Amino acid sequence: MKGEDGRYYAENGEPTYRVAQGGQVDWYTFDGYRRYHAACHMCHGPSGEGSTIAPPLLVPLKAMDYATFQDIVIHGRQTVGPAQQWVMRAMGEDQNVVCYLPDIFVYLKARSDGALGPLRPDNHQPKPGPRL
Ligand code: HEC
Repeated sequence: MKGEDGRYYAENGEPTYRVAQGGQVDWYTFDGYRRYHAACHMCHGPSGEGSTIAPPLLVPLKAMDYATFQDIVIHGRQTVGPAQQWVMRAMGEDQNVVCYLPDIFVYLKARSDGALGPLRPDNHQPKPGPRL
């Protein structure tokens, strides 16, 4: 895992989270918590466990790569049949979502790996400054 401007990437280049000793998370994981709670939790539940209108995210996130995640959120997804009516709208035009997709992804990865609990991770690194 390597860090760049406060962001962490796995060996395979995927964005990832970092939880330091003592439980401090990187800024983007914390930011992902905020963005998730602004844009996704009303459907997917406060801790990603799903609801009557949307499936849980923590289990599928274990195996999902960033490209797939990005594609689903940008384009939306629906399964409409006799047994189920799942509709997730495309969010590719929503600046509050697309600009922060890696943050939401790393937050959900941390949750799905069990590295982070459902509570707001207030112990986090400061926001990285602008690039000089
Ligand atoms: C209006 C409710 C709603 C909102 C808001 C919403 N989703 Fe969804 N989401 C759904 C539904 C319904 C599905 C299932 C679609 C299907 O499988 O046909 C889904 C599916 C998904 C999946 C695929 C899960 C799987 O099992 O493969 C991901 C990933 C996902 N959503 C992420 C997000 C993220 C991240 C956000 C916030 C940026 C978000 N969703 C906001 C309703 C929502």
